[in-house]
Amino acid sequence: MKQVNVAIPKIFEPLLRESYRNKFYYGGRAGGKSYAFADSLLLLGRQKKLFIACLREIQNSIKESVYKLLCDRIAFYGLDDYKIFENKIENRVTQTKFIFKGLRDQDSQKIKSLEGVDIAWIEEAQTITRKSWEILEPTIRKDGSEIWISMNREEENDPLWVLVAAHPDERTLVVKVNYYDNPFCPQEIKLQAQKCKQCNPDDYEHIWLGEPLRQGNTKLIAAAVVRKAFDTQIAEVNSPLVIGLDVARFGDDKTIFCFRRGRCCQRFECFAKLSVVEVANQATFFINKFRPKRMFVDVGGVGAGVYDILKDRGLRQVVRAVNFGEKACLDDRYANRRAEMWDGINLWLNDVLTPCLPQDDELFSDLCSVNKKFDRRGRLMLEEKDEVKKRLGRSPDKADALALTFAEPVYAAEPIAFYRQGQISWEDMFQSQLGDTKW
Ligand SMILES: Nc1ncnc2c1ncn2[C@@H]1O[C@H](COP(=O)(O)OP(=O)(O)OP(=O)(O)O)[C@@H](O)[C@H]1O
Ligand SMILES: [Mg+2]
Repeated sequence: MKQVNVAIPKIFEPLLRESYRNKFYYGGRAGGKSYAFADSLLLLGRQKKLFIACLREIQNSIKESVYKLLCDRIAFYGLDDYKIFENKIENRVTQTKFIFKGLRDQDSQKIKSLEGVDIAWIEEAQTITRKSWEILEPTIRKDGSEIWISMNREEENDPLWVLVAAHPDERTLVVKVNYYDNPFCPQEIKLQAQKCKQCNPDDYEHIWLGEPLRQGNTKLIAAAVVRKAFDTQIAEVNSPLVIGLDVARFGDDKTIFCFRRGRCCQRFECFAKLSVVEVANQATFFINKFRPKRMFVDVGGVGAGVYDILKDRGLRQVVRAVNFGEKACLDDRYANRRAEMWDGINLWLNDVLTPCLPQDDELFSDLCSVNKKFDRRGRLMLEEKDEVKKRLGRSPDKADALALTFAEPVYAAEPIAFYRQGQISWEDMFQSQLGDTKW
C-alpha cells in the first residue's frame, strides 16, 4: 500500500489515538472539522477493516453527504487502494467500507443495517433530532464502536448538544475548535472572519466562534461586550479593591471570590468543598493580605455563617451582607437585588471606557446565559436561577461573584458617614457621587 504523509492538526489527534464512545467536535466555520474527520477515517480505514457510516439528518442525494469530500481527499493523497463506487467507497486491501445515509429515512428495520458499524460519523450534527439520536445510539452497538460528531452550534438547545455534550460523561470527548485552531485555514477565510468581527460582532460570535444563537433579544448581557472586556488590558487602576464572595450553597457549587478595582476585574479565586469556617478563614486571609475597601458576601445560604464569623473577627468595616433575593436599592427599577447587581455588570461592561475581565470560558457562558424580563411594574428581573442552571449545567457562580462587587458603590474615601442611616437616600447619595466615580 502506498505510504502517504497525512497531517492531522494536533487538536484532532484524539480521533486517531484515543478511544471514546463519543467524539464531539464543535465550533464555528472553517475549524477544519470536516477535513480532519475525513482524513482520519481514510487513514484508519487503511490500517484495518472498518465499517464506517457517514450520517446526517437528511440526505436526499449522495451529493449532500461527505462522499465528495472523501473522494477529493482520496484523489489529493492518491490513495489508489480506495475504490469509489456510486454510493459507497471501499478499500481493496483492508476491505474497509464507507456508506452514506440520512437518518430521517431510517425506520426500525432499515437502521438494523448499521448494527455492525465500527465508526459512525454524524456531520452537521446541529440538525439531528432527538428522535434520530434515540434510534441511532442503541444501533451502534458493536464492542469498541465509536460515534464521531461534528457540529456548528445553531441554538442553545440543539438536541445533540444537550444529549451528548452539555454534560459529557467519561466516555465522551468534547472539543471546541475554531478557524484560528485550524493550521490550514486559508488566508481569505481569516480575512472574512476579521471583517465580520468588526462589522457584526454578534454574527461573528455565532458563525466564526460557534456560539449558539441567543434566543430572541432577551439576554441581559451581550456576548460582544464580554469579548471586548476580555480583549482589553488596563495597566493600573487607582480605584479601591472590592471583593465579591459567592459562597457555595450545594455540593456542586463552588465558593468564588471576585477581585475588582473599578474598571478592572482582576481575577477569580475558586474553592470547592470548604466548610463555613474555612471560607471565613480564606476571606480573612484575603482581607488581611489585599486590604479591600469592601467585601460583599452573599448571605442567601450558608454565606450567612461566613458573614457572622467575619463580623465577630472585627471586620465589620469591610464586610457587608448581601441577599440576592432582597429588595433592590433602586426599588422602582429592579425587581430584586440580584437583577440590580447583574445590571451593574451590564452597565459596567457597556461603559464608554471599556473595562477588563480575565479571559475565561466559564465566565463567558455565565455572563451570556442569563435572560432578562420585566415584572408587572416594568422593573427588570432575571429569569429563575433553576432555568439558568438547567441550561448551563451549573450555577453561574463566577458571574454571581462579579455581580456582588456591584452591590453598592464603593469610594476611595468614605464619603457620607450616615449613608443608609435614613438621613440621605441611597439614590441621592449615588447621584451626588456619580459625577466623578465609575463603578
Ligand atoms: N488537512 C487540510 N489540508 C488542507 N486544507 C485544509 C485541511 N484542513 C482544513 N483545510 C482548509 O480549511 C478549510 C476549513 O476546513 P473544514 O471545511 O474542514 O472546516 P469545518 O470546521 O468543517 O468548517 P464548516 O463549519 O465550514 O463546515 C477547508 O476549506 C480547507 O481549505
Ligand atoms: Mg464542515
